[in-house]
Amino acid sequence: MHRRGFFFSTLRWLFGSPLAVGLTSLAATFTVWLLASVRFMFPNVLIEPPLRFRVGRMEQYVPGQVETRHADRHGVWIVNGHFEGRLQLYALRVECTHLGCTTIWLESEQKFKCPCHGSGFYKDGIHFEGPAPRPLERYAIHLADDGQIEVDKSRTFRHELGEWEDPDSFIPV
Ligand code: FES
Repeated sequence: MHRRGFFFSTLRWLFGSPLAVGLTSLAATFTVWLLASVRFMFPNVLIEPPLRFRVGRMEQYVPGQVETRHADRHGVWIVNGHFEGRLQLYALRVECTHLGCTTIWLESEQKFKCPCHGSGFYKDGIHFEGPAPRPLERYAIHLADDGQIEVDKSRTFRHELGEWEDPDSFIPV
């Protein structure tokens, strides 16, 4: 037999034979197993926004303004407003205190409104209509060393517990 003929008949024997089928199946199984193992090493991870984040400098916040820019990503309203006669900058949690729906800011009516059952909150977070049993909560807020405002969502302050008097719950303006 010529060399060429021998080569082609060997190839035909290899790839058409049960041995070739078995080896191919084995290789495919091993590949699947290998991919699954690599995938296992990198499990699904939910990337949450950080609990501490910066929201700019004091001069960016006009008195009387509710900043809505951080509501979607961080779940917070930054307000430069009056509370009991004092001008303060504070960070209100967007969740309604009834059942936790996300409130919306109505600029024309100057109030936070809950779309679920109609609770309403003044700009300072105090509830005045609907079933919400208490005001919106505040997050900790302070001026960092570099002059940036930093919000810390790991700490909350509740008005009904007298916690809005805590100096960490606002920045005096
Ligand atoms: S969840 Fe807001 S009023 Fe019910």
